[in-house]
Amino acid sequence: MVNICCIGAGYVGGPSCAVIAYQCHDVKVTIVDLNQARIDAWNSDELPIYEPGLDEIVFARRGKNLFFTTDVDQAIIDADLIFVSVNTPTKKTGMGAGMAADLAYIERATRRIAEVATSSKVVIEKSTVPCRTAQSMRTILEANSNKNIRFDILSNPEFLAEGTAINDLTNPDRVLIGCLQTPEGFAAQQKLVDIYTRWIPKEKVITMNLWSSELSKLAANALLAQRISSINALSAICEATGADVDEVAYACGTDSRIGPKFLKASVGFGGSCFQKDILNLVYLSEQLHLPEVAAYWKSVVTMNEYQKMRFTHRIVRTLFNTVTHKRIALLGFAFKKDTGDTRESAAITLCSYLIQERANVAIYDPKVSAAQIKMDLTEPGVGTNEATVEKHIQVCKTAYEACADAAAIVICTEWDEFKMHQLDYQKVFDSMQKPAFIFDGRLILDAPKLREIGFRVETIGKSI
Ligand code: UDX
Ligand code: ADP
Repeated sequence: MVNICCIGAGYVGGPSCAVIAYQCHDVKVTIVDLNQARIDAWNSDELPIYEPGLDEIVFARRGKNLFFTTDVDQAIIDADLIFVSVNTPTKKTGMGAGMAADLAYIERATRRIAEVATSSKVVIEKSTVPCRTAQSMRTILEANSNKNIRFDILSNPEFLAEGTAINDLTNPDRVLIGCLQTPEGFAAQQKLVDIYTRWIPKEKVITMNLWSSELSKLAANALLAQRISSINALSAICEATGADVDEVAYACGTDSRIGPKFLKASVGFGGSCFQKDILNLVYLSEQLHLPEVAAYWKSVVTMNEYQKMRFTHRIVRTLFNTVTHKRIALLGFAFKKDTGDTRESAAITLCSYLIQERANVAIYDPKVSAAQIKMDLTEPGVGTNEATVEKHIQVCKTAYEACADAAAIVICTEWDEFKMHQLDYQKVFDSMQKPAFIFDGRLILDAPKLREIGFRVETIGKSI
């Protein structure tokens, strides 16, 4: 039986290794984390992350060939292959602050492997990391371990997107495995190829060198984010000229060289990866003395910030240049639909701007708790504090509750339950102050129908 350990039971490690257990019943998968509460949740009926289809997979294999524990050392000792799926947030202080990835968690996990391993291991870098992290991991492992033990490092970046993770893992566009181009490296690579090809066609499992694999992950996220910033930049032109951003995206997307995906204008991209990975790329470019390259990628993030700011200005301008003491219903707080994750969500920035304008914001999100919302809004750097959040934020249990008596609705997340056929907009309208405004930051609403009801509608990328 192949024995796999996954260090880090988060959004990446949890789903990706649960799917391996689901697909390969003869592989024992142990997912470990230092966070006891998180592990307890993985072992309960209420998993710590919301992801469509994840419950079924975990409940089917948990206790059979899928285990969750805080006993990191034992899982390392028993494993043949170890996935390192710990967090790699942007550094908050010190060199590269605000740009470089904080590799402290990776280093700590790597040192632990070196300290406790009693047999050879294939160590797989799964978290997104700056280029050449594998080299650092190898140096740590080799310097700290017994000479009879061999460590081979692979890079196997994760391309799953939250909300569609299970499908992305079951039917991926590709799986990337990078290794050192040595006979031992190829042998280690083959072990992982043999796992994935149990359910993924061989031609989709791409092998390459370690550094290409590490860079490809950053590059893929940077290219995706760049498309969103490009369409968002065009949305500003649309609003100023009367063009319709959905029509422009459709016209461009039908060119097979461009393709239709990731051209949905929005209030701004969020999530734990896009901004972090681009900033990583910017930092790398600066380190390599490539300032033009750094500036090029940086502009993708700058455009995203601009989009959030621009949308807030539009709200304030439309509401007669003041939102002070006005009740604004903010629908959606997660960074996209079908996830409870709020990391880098545009809603956080929007809320913070609205609070600074002294609006009263009534928030509803089907999957984000009040505690999470308050924690996000009081994080350092967000520009608010506990007292103002308590005073200006109300977290509601339904969209109707949030909208009741509001001067305006702001759609931040494209949850299906906010769409026209699911939410009764006549009922919403009747409960609001008049004139009743809706700001659609996700282009999910039918503006003409809303206008028939009596709403004043403002949509990203549209001037009418
Ligand atoms: C992303 C990558 O898609 C995934 O491959 C990688 O492994 C991790 O980062 P994720 O952040 O989970 O995944 O979600 P994604 O669907 O890419 O959306 C990111 C953000 O962009 C969201 O805020 C989303 O709403 C926004 N977005 C996406 C748009 O604004 N417009 C689009 O057309 C697509
Ligand atoms: P991601 O989205 O990349 O999965 P998360 O923050 O959701 O990031 O998950 C990373 C997990 O890794 C966290 O639950 C954290 O507790 C865990 N972790 C970090 N360092 C270690 C470590 N040295 N050993 C075990 N778990 C770790």
